[in-house]
Amino acid sequence: MAVEAPVADSDIVTSVEGAVGVVRINRPKVLNALSYSVMQSIVESFEKFDRDPEIRAILLTGDERAFAAGADIKELEDATVVEMAMSQQMERWDRIRRISTPIVAAVSGFALGGGCELAMCCDLIIASETAVFGQPEIDIGVMPGAGGTQRLTRAVGKAMAMDMVLTGRRIDAREALAHGLVSRVVPMELYYDEAMKVCKAIAAKAPMAARMAKEGVSRALDMSLETALSYERRLFYLLFGTEDQKEGMAAFREKRKPEYKGK
Ligand code: CAA
Repeated sequence: MAVEAPVADSDIVTSVEGAVGVVRINRPKVLNALSYSVMQSIVESFEKFDRDPEIRAILLTGDERAFAAGADIKELEDATVVEMAMSQQMERWDRIRRISTPIVAAVSGFALGGGCELAMCCDLIIASETAVFGQPEIDIGVMPGAGGTQRLTRAVGKAMAMDMVLTGRRIDAREALAHGLVSRVVPMELYYDEAMKVCKAIAAKAPMAARMAKEGVSRALDMSLETALSYERRLFYLLFGTEDQKEGMAAFREKRKPEYKGK
């Protein structure tokens, strides 16, 4: 298994474990607040991993106290409407949506505001029992601006999304699980390992199949059922052009473990 020494940017640390690219947000003094530069680093490292054929899954995490406590309020405080509208900051969030490699968020502690939005940009969220999710922007005179009103509503439904967005209510990991925001909750000491386990499980699959499967689920809520089903069918047919499909099915027939080549 390849394990590369961590590379520390100023505000993120990246590393590679086997076929998993790891990005850790590293601003503990401000609870991993997402400054413009940390967002830039996250997006660039995601894109780098996405271009690397050896990387089959990406793990995004923070630390035990905070995944991320939101956008960096100190950077936003003096911004004007024109500066906000003309800046390219939000475009970074759109770039995350274009990453084809499955991304798993390992969340402990605060995932608030932009932190909750960033976790929701990932394909699945593994939460520590200590995780706290919320969109508290209303408490500082604004509203979610990086997908919070949209992705949260799609994940937990209108009632809970309105409650969280209008009152700033925070929910804990168990509530997040009950409302479909996260897929697994584990004790704090296990959240990173569990997320790594999930990443490794994904990384062991045929890579094209994993990418197409991610795309299918990601598009599910954007289209009418008829269009989505036809789209899914096309993705499914496409996989029959891969060597890995032949390998997967031959391995089943021969009662052995498949050896995928990413072809
Ligand atoms: N931006 C900048 N700094 C932040 C921050 C943020 N989002 N969140 C925490 N910090 C800083 C604090 O200012 C503090 O720094 P100092 O020691 O220099 O004062 C440090 O992190 C530790 O924070 P606290 O002392 O407040 O820690 P706490 O345990 O008492 O409270 C908390 C933790 C409840 C998360 C609290 O810090 C908090 O409410 N943070 C802000 C949460 C928030 O409003 N997030 C939304 C931001 S806006 C946004 O995200 C817009 C969008 O949609 C993109």
